[in-house]
Amino acid sequence: MPIRLHVNIDHVATLRQARGTQYPDPVFAAQLCEQAGADGITLHLREDRRHIVDRDVERMRDAITTLMNLECAATDEMVDIAVRLRPDVVTLVPERREERTTEGGLDAASHRAHLGPRIARLVDAGIKVSLFVAADEAQVDAAVALGARQVEFHTGPYAHARAPVGRDVERTLIAQASRAAKARGLEVAAGHGLTRSNVVGVASIPEIEELNIGHAIIADAVLMGLPRAVRAMRAAIRRGVRVRRAKP
Ligand code: PXP
Repeated sequence: MPIRLHVNIDHVATLRQARGTQYPDPVFAAQLCEQAGADGITLHLREDRRHIVDRDVERMRDAITTLMNLECAATDEMVDIAVRLRPDVVTLVPERREERTTEGGLDAASHRAHLGPRIARLVDAGIKVSLFVAADEAQVDAAVALGARQVEFHTGPYAHARAPVGRDVERTLIAQASRAAKARGLEVAAGHGLTRSNVVGVASIPEIEELNIGHAIIADAVLMGLPRAVRAMRAAIRRGVRVRRAKP
């Protein structure tokens, strides 16, 4: 079964916000990802709007032709935005302002009372709900009880394991949780910290249907695109020099 690749374009916006410029535009980046074969676009609207901002989400809804996966915290503000803009999927993630990126999975098992009504609003609006959780059967059970259609397993512990043995242990946990999720009728996604070198171990798990990958793709794009960008700048400078020469 092919695996859907959803490209997370948050860090295109990170680059833009670092300078307060209009470029690079995450919506244009999303369209390029689609042209290159991405099956969907993932974007995370954080409470502090540190990268993606509300206007990006609005423009993205109109611009992309594949699936739009909006990651957000399970707050009333975010649920209101999602219900208004109708992404294809909402992935609920935990969020703390001070963290550099999403550091842990959502503890769906302990927060059923908070999550239940918010998930119900999304489901009632016809939005597929995915929960970003640790590879743990208790979280799978909670996701089923809460009415989620998908779980996205947090691959951070696998990706960041230093020793091969630790990585194998984490991969086994993801594989076991994926089997449990599939057996309970959930769709199975995974993501966080995946790179071209570590993705193989996750993509080889048979139940995994979707991967959400951002940082490493944007990092590769920077390095792979750098020679072309330098040549393009050289060409622009040459145009200026030609104008200089043409002037009397
Ligand atoms: N999936 C979820 C739920 C995330 O929060 C993130 C990071 O925003 C990703 C996937 C992508 O992680 P990375 O940028 O490390 O590929």
